[in-house]
Amino acid sequence: MTKIILLISLCISLFANDKAHQFAPSSDCKECHPKIYEEFLSSMHGNSTIQKDPIHRSVWELQKEQTKTQRYACGKCHTPAANDLDKMLTKDGKVMPQADNQTHQEGISCAYCHRIESIELHKQSNTNIISKDEKKYFGNLKQHIDSPYHGIISEGNEHMKNGNVCIGCHSHKMNKHNLNVCSTNIDNELDGANCVSCHMPKVDGTVSNLYETKQHTFHGFAGSHSHSDMLSKYVNISLLRQIDNFIVNIDNQTSHSLLLHPLRTGVLKVNIKRGDKTIAMEPKLFVRVLGKDGKPAMPWVADKVIKNTMITANEKRSIKYDFKIQTSDIVDVTLGWYLVAPKALEKLGLKDEDVATKFTVFKKESYKF
Ligand code: HEC
Ligand code: HEC
Ligand code: HEC
Ligand code: HEC
Ligand code: HEC
Repeated sequence: MTKIILLISLCISLFANDKAHQFAPSSDCKECHPKIYEEFLSSMHGNSTIQKDPIHRSVWELQKEQTKTQRYACGKCHTPAANDLDKMLTKDGKVMPQADNQTHQEGISCAYCHRIESIELHKQSNTNIISKDEKKYFGNLKQHIDSPYHGIISEGNEHMKNGNVCIGCHSHKMNKHNLNVCSTNIDNELDGANCVSCHMPKVDGTVSNLYETKQHTFHGFAGSHSHSDMLSKYVNISLLRQIDNFIVNIDNQTSHSLLLHPLRTGVLKVNIKRGDKTIAMEPKLFVRVLGKDGKPAMPWVADKVIKNTMITANEKRSIKYDFKIQTSDIVDVTLGWYLVAPKALEKLGLKDEDVATKFTVFKKESYKF
């Protein structure tokens, strides 16, 4: 896969995502693709800006304060459709994301993603190459009618199907200290599954309202903020009862770690119901903590991973509990996460922010003995 991208990127003149381009606003797509539009609005791609994502905002504000930076370098991936993106990314550009600039609020917009022609690989972070034609969109429909609004390129753009379209922003992000802050396994083809097939499955409802189809590709981008129920089938939980103890097995059938962003904390909760009593086991935490000098540090300061207990790609993790299960016990096992590690809430000023403090239940199993 990597070879193909390199080849493609060598052949194409630069029209990259760190430059400013004009994109049709996503609201233009609503008229004919209302289902896809509605899903997109609820997704983190539709809400990736500092005005719409309080977690992103708080991290950015702390970083801005601590590093005294004058540029919003995050824009390369968080507001790539900004009309003055080039200025946002330059040191003295002094362009910050504005609430009243519609192009700053588009997020990873429909037209942006559908104009990614290829991906250039770079050490710090990759770069998307954007097609010059503003009104021709890459897609994958085997059969389609013409669109009265835009051209369609359905052939020869495998990247829309195999997940390469995602890795311009998702493969890795290196900080100044050469530490990879956040990465996804880009060799993501696993048993035929990839970023698109897992995160954008086919769901009921028509692609457009000009031509009725049974299904369309889900554009709510199932992930850790929302629709995680669509992904729970990729992680299996089982329980093994032994004479004096029991083991909970977590089988991660995903090509990347269970959680990717260093802010996350995964949690395994186990409760045993015995008669009218509930006995809670000590919660098990899954984290990847970045740090400096042996202490946890924010992503822009950190130069090492100081602790990594995250469940990794394709890992089968076994957790032993020294507890003897009795007949007629009921064991409830819950796997879930906090989007922001509870210990970081105070520092980030996120204590009263629901999205940062709530516990998301990803998968729940109950075993009767
Ligand atoms: C190379 C692309 C890229 C750049 C540049 C980038 N990000 Fe991100 N960011 C991402 C991706 C992809 C995610 C989603 C990761 C995930 O959910 O695991 C993300 C997620 C986040 C999140 C989690 C948001 C949430 O709601 O949980 C925070 C916080 C964040 N980024 C902060 C920043 C800040 C601050 C900057 C700029 C200093 C920045 N990012 C620059 C790609 C990028
Ligand atoms: C006036 C109606 C109309 C508008 C507005 C519109 N589209 Fe479409 N689009 C269509 C039709 C019709 C199709 C073909 C659907 C089919 O055959 O099932 C289509 C197909 C597509 C495809 C699929 C291409 C493929 O081969 O997979 C993409 C991608 C797409 N549109 C993106 C967009 C984006 C992005 C916008 C907004 C910037 C937009 N459309 C606005 C009518 C429209
Ligand atoms: C232009 C950059 C960019 C591209 C291209 C991109 N993403 Fe993202 N993606 C982001 C950013 C930035 C975030 C985090 C937004 C936030 O939380 O504020 C994100 C978040 C996500 C999330 C997390 C959603 C959640 O609920 O937490 C998933 C899943 C995701 N992207 C999947 C994909 C897939 C699949 C593709 C390819 C089809 C893709 N992304 C392409 C930038 C991008
Ligand atoms: C992060 C990238 C990304 C964003 C943002 C995005 N799409 Fe897509 N879209 C894709 C990918 C990838 C496919 C191909 C899926 C496949 O082949 O299974 C696709 C498929 C489609 C199709 C083809 C029909 C179908 O259902 O498969 C249409 C139409 C479409 N998108 C319209 C839109 C519209 C309208 C928006 C905004 C409301 C949008 N897309 C936002 C990545 C994106
Ligand atoms: C086999 C299915 C599968 C494949 C392939 C896959 N993912 Fe995931 N992804 C998951 C599961 C399961 C989760 C965890 C549950 C959740 O976040 O809802 C997840 C979570 C994520 C998250 C949220 C992580 C966080 O910390 O917030 C992002 C972003 C993401 N995946 C992006 C990608 C990208 C980009 C690719 C392709 C390079 C990809 N995934 C490939 C299944 C998959």
